Formats: sequence, C-alpha cells, structure tokens
Amino acid sequence: MCGIFAYLNYNVKRDRRFILEILFNGLRRLEYRGYDSAGISIDSSSSSDPNGQLSFSPLVFRQEGNIDSLVKSVYKDVASIKLNLEELFCVHAGIAHTRWATHGEPSPKNSHPQTSGAGNEFLVVHNGVITNYEVLKETLTRHGFNFESDTDTEVIPKLAKYVFDKATEEGDQSVTFSLVVLEVMRHLEGAYALIFKSHHYPNELIACKRGSPLLLGVKELSEDMHSGAPFLDLKFISENRHPKELFLSSDASAIVEHTKKVLVIEDGEVVHLKDGGVSILKFENEKGICGNALSRPSSVQRALSFLEMEVEQINKGKYEHYMQKEIHEQPESLTTTMRGRLKRGGSTKAKTVLLGGLKDHIKSIRRSRRIVFIGCGTSYNAALAARPIIEELSGVPVTMEIASDLVDRQGPIYREDTAVFVSQSGETADTLLALEYALENGALCVGITNTVGSAIARNTHCGIHINAGCEIGVASTKAYTSQIVVMAMLALAIGDDAISSQARREAIIDGLFDLPNKVREVLKLDQEMKELAKLLIAEQSLLVFGRGYNFATALEGALKVKEVSLMHSEGMLAGEMKHGPLALVDENLPIIVIATRDACFSKQQSVIQQLHARKGRLIVVCSKGDAAAVCPGGSSSCRVIEVPQVEDCLQPVVNIIPLQLLAYHLTVLRGYNVDQPRNLAKSVTTQ
Ligand code: F6R
Repeated sequence: MCGIFAYLNYNVKRDRRFILEILFNGLRRLEYRGYDSAGISIDSSSSSDPNGQLSFSPLVFRQEGNIDSLVKSVYKDVASIKLNLEELFCVHAGIAHTRWATHGEPSPKNSHPQTSGAGNEFLVVHNGVITNYEVLKETLTRHGFNFESDTDTEVIPKLAKYVFDKATEEGDQSVTFSLVVLEVMRHLEGAYALIFKSHHYPNELIACKRGSPLLLGVKELSEDMHSGAPFLDLKFISENRHPKELFLSSDASAIVEHTKKVLVIEDGEVVHLKDGGVSILKFENEKGICGNALSRPSSVQRALSFLEMEVEQINKGKYEHYMQKEIHEQPESLTTTMRGRLKRGGSTKAKTVLLGGLKDHIKSIRRSRRIVFIGCGTSYNAALAARPIIEELSGVPVTMEIASDLVDRQGPIYREDTAVFVSQSGETADTLLALEYALENGALCVGITNTVGSAIARNTHCGIHINAGCEIGVASTKAYTSQIVVMAMLALAIGDDAISSQARREAIIDGLFDLPNKVREVLKLDQEMKELAKLLIAEQSLLVFGRGYNFATALEGALKVKEVSLMHSEGMLAGEMKHGPLALVDENLPIIVIATRDACFSKQQSVIQQLHARKGRLIVVCSKGDAAAVCPGGSSSCRVIEVPQVEDCLQPVVNIIPLQLLAYHLTVLRGYNVDQPRNLAKSVTTQ
C-alpha cells in the first residue's frame, strides 16, 4: 500500500541537492499509493576514516504528513546539521518511502526507512505486510534487539543486522549484501517489495520482492551505448562500468521521466546494484503467490524491456486534478481499450471481437459450468455492470464475489469454473488471495487488469489488459469504464454466434465503435453537474437507485461520492426500495434515480412515482428527450440529467460519467483533496 523508490548514480557526478530532488520527485509520483507519512535516507560523508578515505554513513529523515512536509523538514534538518547541498558524489545510493499506515499510526517513528538501530547499519523501505513479524520480533528481542516503532517492517533491518553480525562473528568477513538479504528473505512471510541500504555496503542497494510490485529502471549515460535499442541484455549491464543512473520504484510512473528501459523484478528475485552492475539471484520453487517455501537461490540473466508509457500520461496537463483529467480523458482511454480488438467490414463484412490474451482459452470459458467474477470496490462494480450481457450472450451462469468475502467464506470454487479477476492495479491483496484460492481449487483463472506485469496479470492463466493508461487519482474513473468495455468484448468473444443473436451482437459492436463519441457528448454535462454539486454541498447524505444494467451505476456513483467528497452516500437496487429504504424518504434527502431507456425503464418510472408520492427530492438520470416521461406531473417535480442513449449493455459507461463529475465537483467545493481522499490509497496491498 506504500510507495518505495531508490536512486543510485554510478560514475557520474551528482550533488546532494540533485539527489534529494530526484528522491522527492520519485515520491511525489508515488504519493497516490499512500500519503500519511514519508521518509528518505541519503549519505553524509566525512573524512574521519583512519586511512584518510571518505567514509559514508546513512542519514535518515522521516516525517508525518505528505511529501511537501517531508521536503520542508529535510531541508531544515540539512541546514541544521550543516550538510553541504553542493557536495558532489560520483556514486551515491538513496532510498525513499511514502506510507499508507497499516501497523502503527502515522508518525516519524513508524515512517520508513526503518532501521536496525543506532548507526543505521541496515535500512529498509517496504511496501506490503510481513505476516509473521510478531514471531520474528519476539526472537530478535530475545537476542537483545530493542524495537522503537509499531511497524511490521522494523523486524527486517534488525534481522539483516542479526544475520550480518552472526556471519562476521563466525569469521565470514566476506559476506555479501545479497547473501544477507537472501537469508533475511528466508524468514519473511507475507507480501513485500523491499529496498535495502547499509552502512556496511556503501553505494550498494538491494531490491527484492514477493507479491508486491517493484521495477528497476536503467539510464545509460554514455554516448556509445545502444541507447535506442528497446531490449538490452541485463548481463551486459552487469558487466559494464559506464556512467549510469539506476532507479527502483513500486511502479513505472516514477521511472518513465528518467528512462524507458526497465526490468520488472519477479517474485523471489534479489537484485543487487553494485559497482555500476546489476546482478540477480533468484529463489527457485516458490510456493504460491505469497507462500513461504524457498529453495536454493541461483543467478539469473534477464533482458530489460521497454516501457510503453509516456511522461504526459503522468502529468495533469491542463487539468487541476488527476481525477478531473482522468474523467475527461475517457473518450481516449476507451478508444485505446478497444484498439485492434474490434473488427467490422472487410471481405466478409463480419463484425467480430479479437482478444489475443484469451485466444487459446475461449472454448474452455464457453464450456465452463459457471463464470465467477471476483474483485473489490470499483472493479467489482464494473463486473456487476457487465454480468447481464455475459449471461445473455454466453448462456453461462455468472456469479459475483467480493474477493475478501469469497476468501472469508472459503466459498465453493470448482475445476469446471472460470474465475475472472478484475483489478485496475492487479495487486490488490484481497483479490490476489482469492486468486490463490481459485488456483488451488483448479478453476481456469482469467485476469482483467490495467497493469502489465502485475501479480494478477502474471498469475492468472490468461487475461485481457484494459489499456486505460496510468490511473493516478485514487478514485477509479477511467479504469471503471474501460473494464466494462473489456467485459462487454469478453461477452461478445465467448458468446455463441447463433443467427438469432447476430443482430444484437452487431448492434453492440456498432455501439462500442460509437461509444467514445457518446462519452464526449455526456462530458458536456460538466457545468450542469457543478451546479448540482453547489445545491448538494451541505447535504449529509445521498441515495442512488438503479436496477438491471444500472444497479452497478448506483453502487459506483455512490462509492465515488462517498470516497472523495466524504458525504454519506448509498447505492441501492431500486427493486429493494419498498422493502426498507423507502422509510428514509422525505422532502430533504436527495435521491438520484437512474432511469435511462432499457427493459427496466417502466419499472423505474413507477419507482419515481412512488418516491414522488412521498415528496422525495428527486434527481433523475434519463435518456435524452425523456424528461417529461420520467418526471411525474412535469419537469418542475424533479431535476433531470439527460444523457445520450446507447445500447443497453453500454449504458452504464455513459451513465456513470455525470456521477463521476458530481463527485468531483462536490469534493472540490467542499474543500477536500480530490486526488488523495482521507484514509485511502490507490492500491490496497494489505488485507
Ligand atoms: C474506488 C477504488 C477502489 C478500487 C479497489 C480495487 O474508486 O478505486 O474501490 O476499485 O480498491 O482496486 P483494484 O481495482 O486495483 O483491484
């Protein structure tokens, strides 16, 4: 749930200010992953070494609050300890962390880097959770270690010191940094991405991971390097001493502005940055995704790959906030999601869908006894929106599972099932655990994620990337609409091609082609939604009713409002209204009803009538031109939001947009941080 970052310059002069700014900038890019505290470690240098050599000792700066608070406090501390910002380093290793608290409240002592104790012999930044930390803490306490923080992470640097001390006591003066970390890893259970820095190994860094994501970025600075080549052999990097800069990061957003050459570090790997080289040791025979069976490590060679991301994607451009940008770029993100996957015309004039990542599994999915959709939050809602069209076109029964609930219940998953895991980040801990469970039960596992190389993408049998582009706002917007579109394409791909369903299939494909235009049209409601937000600014609560395809819209609209604007909001199945929620209705409580044209339209008309009869304060989302049809006794009885009509199964994509805009404007008007809602973080890598 946190963001970790590191920077190492080799054979190229960088001053302390430059190094600090690179670390701060890396943290700013990762801030969406957690923003309650942050910290860094850089080196101080002194000539107190008996041989007259400069010796380095790590300094640690930790601060509660966001990155800006850290930056202020670091510069203040740097000034107070009289560190020279212009001092040059030919090699320097710095590490950094931005935190979303899991164990221990946000405070300097619980921020990372966590240390082995006085002298900062070993320092660690961590993303994930160490599940056996209590046992390790007990053992280390028995060995004389004192713990200062309430974190699970603190056991890691202390364990590293224990391993190092033991090796040197036993006379092994040559124990390498990577051997220390390999031994530490043997004892850790849970999910983690870690970066280690040590006083004993100046100018070296170690990165390792299991379960949580971690990337290495390599920027070669010498002219004669094959700079344009998309693939470089890491073996080559490991043997050359050319000037370079190396970056480690929880995700690509903190690397792409420096280099596009990356290595996606794999589970069980220990990556050692030393003397301008990169060497990798890997534990073989790992058990499970978060399992604990590690065998002997062996050296591995890997090739660097080329990031497909552009720097513009991670900037706000002309927008004030990421959420605003991501709402408005949905015509483009949807186009990218569909690019190369829809075919229309050609010699046969056939309209088809091609999903390359599924091509060898389509028949098995069609033959499965049922399809189980599994996800959390917005990703679950997207699957719920797609469920009816999958059932209609494939005839396979679809059930829905919230990932944590499936695992809590150990609900039935069979070999004959297809389990579809929907996750923007591809690293949500609850969804990953459900995936592990489904794999153990023998189901065919399909991943739908926005993150190439993520744990869910790598551990499922097959899958579809939604290609929505980097989503930085903590509230998911463009990923939601792209997920629905991917699942509509999945329905078309696994549906039978009976003549009876041909017209329906073709209408959906035509609708998909036209969807970006319809979304562009509905985005014009921006100002109208701002006006509505002004009216609702002081409300305590908001209800949203939907049914059929748009039950998901009600859930997702309410989720957006509550998570960013901090206004209580509930999405409800309109069919359930008279079974309880109707008691809440009076002339004050605002109620949004989704009543666009589909098979449920007349039922929604009668829901509106019933709410109106109880003097409900109605806001109705309806198809263009339907104002009179939805407002009992004329348009003065309710506020109407008219949206373009599209094919029923695609209507949730259009309908959610005014609600995303409403949530955005409500938040800004109420004065809250729209991109970093209170207590939340983008990817929830803890259970
Ligand atoms: C809400 C939101 C969350 C996520 C949920 C799952 O705006 O973003 O509800 O949808 O935490 O995350 P992913 O999709 O990354 O698995």
